[in-house]
Amino acid sequence: MLKVGIAGIGMMGNTHLEAYSKLKGVKVVAVADLIKARREGRVAVAGNVKGQAQSSTDFSTFRQYVEAADMIVDPDIDIIDICLPTPSHAKYAMMALKAGKHVLTEKPFARTAREAQQLAQAAAKADTLLMCAMCMRFWPAWTWLKEAIDKEAYGPVLGATFRRVTSLPPGDFYADADLNGGAILDLHIHDTDFIQHCFGKPQAVYSRGYSHTTSGIDHILTHYIYDHIPLVTAEGSWALNKAFGFAMQYTVNFAHATAVFDISAEPQLKLMRNGKTTAVKIKDGVGYEHEIAYFVKCVKNGTRPEVIDPTSAALSVTIVEAEKKSLETGRIVNI
Ligand SMILES: NC(=O)c1ccc[n+]([C@@H]2O[C@H](COP(=O)([O-])OP(=O)(O)OC[C@H]3O[C@@H](n4cnc5c(N)ncnc54)[C@H](O)[C@@H]3O)[C@@H](O)[C@H]2O)c1
Repeated sequence: MLKVGIAGIGMMGNTHLEAYSKLKGVKVVAVADLIKARREGRVAVAGNVKGQAQSSTDFSTFRQYVEAADMIVDPDIDIIDICLPTPSHAKYAMMALKAGKHVLTEKPFARTAREAQQLAQAAAKADTLLMCAMCMRFWPAWTWLKEAIDKEAYGPVLGATFRRVTSLPPGDFYADADLNGGAILDLHIHDTDFIQHCFGKPQAVYSRGYSHTTSGIDHILTHYIYDHIPLVTAEGSWALNKAFGFAMQYTVNFAHATAVFDISAEPQLKLMRNGKTTAVKIKDGVGYEHEIAYFVKCVKNGTRPEVIDPTSAALSVTIVEAEKKSLETGRIVNI
């Protein structure tokens, strides 16, 4: 039985807790949070995805730590799962690798590209495994898309647009762009990362956007420039009005079909071909569950996670920083 300690039991810590509870051969034995009510499981949280983080777990069986660093050295834990605020990801992941633990860390991989690259280097030398929880790489309708692109099932991609827009989430963490890196690093990175996963490293990026709700970049639209695909864009925002809700969408135009995903639509994934629209049947579950099941399987088998390796997780932070530079300078920025 693999034993897990979750560092930070806020919205994502609860989401991960719920995902582990659905798996066999692994169990959460400890949690750490600076806030007493959270480490005792007495705070209700909610995320953008319907039903997310709504577990009714009994926390009384967990060893409860205040400071994550104290839990990391607990010898009776195999996996440290880091759901701490973004500036702590690299520091605590490094600490957990040094303590000989396997590590799953929430996205973004680190607050800065420099830290992300240092963490990837540390992971390459470690005997234990490190994976960044880039959940879109495991989201059923998105794994369908990746497979369709890789197999050229509908011909080559001509144009791909991704969209993830909402209003500013509540709480001090989201109000402080120094902590979260702005919508560009906290939210939009999901699409930057998925684009990199599907199409490889872009040659360059060109971004436009603005600050509105925080001092960081709150709304961005980026062109990812590739030789082999005419048009790839992603829009990310938490600057919209509260009444808007949350949109997570893609439209991918292949030479012989168009695929459209919308998390709020029914069905969520549609394929348009020869003038007809069909619903695409997708795997059950959400990305968080599949990513955690995959990581646990890698730990059990002793295989390095290939779906998202540390170098690739670090590259996504590097691309986001290039997008920021493009937006600030008004120029195309080479990667
Ligand atoms: N994958 C996704 O879709 C997704 C969605 C939302 C957030 N996230 C990421 O997850 C991370 C956490 O976000 P959240 O919304 O759960 O935040 P949150 O504020 O709800 O939870 C973080 C928790 O960490 C605790 N904490 C901070 N420092 C600590 C320390 N040293 N020791 C112990 N506890 C400590 C805080 O008290 C807090 O309860 C962020 O980096 C965010 O970007 C990912």
